[in-house]
Amino acid sequence: MRVVFVGPPGVGKGTQAQRLAERRGMVKISTGDVLREAVRQGTPLGVRAKAFMDAGSLVPDDLVIGMLSERLAGDDTARGCLLDGFPRTIAQAEALEKMLARRGEALDLVVAFEADHEVIVDRLSGRRSCPRCGKVYHVRFDPSPAGARCGGCGAELVQREDDREATIRRRLKVYEEETAPLLAYYRDRGLLVQVDGTAPIDAVAARVDEALNAPRPA
Ligand code: AP5
Repeated sequence: MRVVFVGPPGVGKGTQAQRLAERRGMVKISTGDVLREAVRQGTPLGVRAKAFMDAGSLVPDDLVIGMLSERLAGDDTARGCLLDGFPRTIAQAEALEKMLARRGEALDLVVAFEADHEVIVDRLSGRRSCPRCGKVYHVRFDPSPAGARCGGCGAELVQREDDREATIRRRLKVYEEETAPLLAYYRDRGLLVQVDGTAPIDAVAARVDEALNAPRPA
């Protein structure tokens, strides 16, 4: 299957993507993670992307589309993939449609997660991430079994640079202006399923599974 996760920052896309990929053995591509790794390694892409990410803005379409197109060309995506955080603009959605069409493929489902702004600010301010393996925790809602270290690989957990309140607000504004129009775009194509992201993590995961298992038009 080819599935897209879309939604405002902090709604739980990454958490659900990580769990779904583990449950179903799907190849997961999280553009935020790929960009953060590029920044960490100081690659030309990372150097160009950093200022946009720190400001809570979107990285320009041409950079992200080029990066995704390279990643999608890998053999491991031939049988499907889960895209977390891409597309985020109509231009990216159109580019994705073309990339897949060139391979005789198409998206199966777009899952849109929803939550109001207070829930999001609470989640992002308590988020802790593993800089080594990318696992995501929350100090109250999903604590690491290893305390301040990652339960998966043991690295010390960190708070993301863009999880400061002013940057969170900027990211929410950018989401409303640039990404929210994707909901109508995918609804018109019959691909959209909306999921309440405010439920507990396991309940959201069950709803995602239900959406993936639902019969779709051939
Ligand atoms: P990215 O990393 O994709 O950030 P984002 O979309 O802002 O999303 P987040 O990672 O902040 O949140 P999430 O929805 O994954 O929530 P999470 O599961 O962590 O992108 C970062 C930046 O990269 C962008 O700002 C942009 O600059 C750039 N970028 C990336 N893709 C791009 C693109 N396509 N085009 C242009 N630029 C791009 O959960 C949050 C917290 O809540 C966690 O602590 C978690 O444990 C907790 N939690 C999750 N679910 C629940 C639940 N159900 N109940 C309680 N707690 C929960």
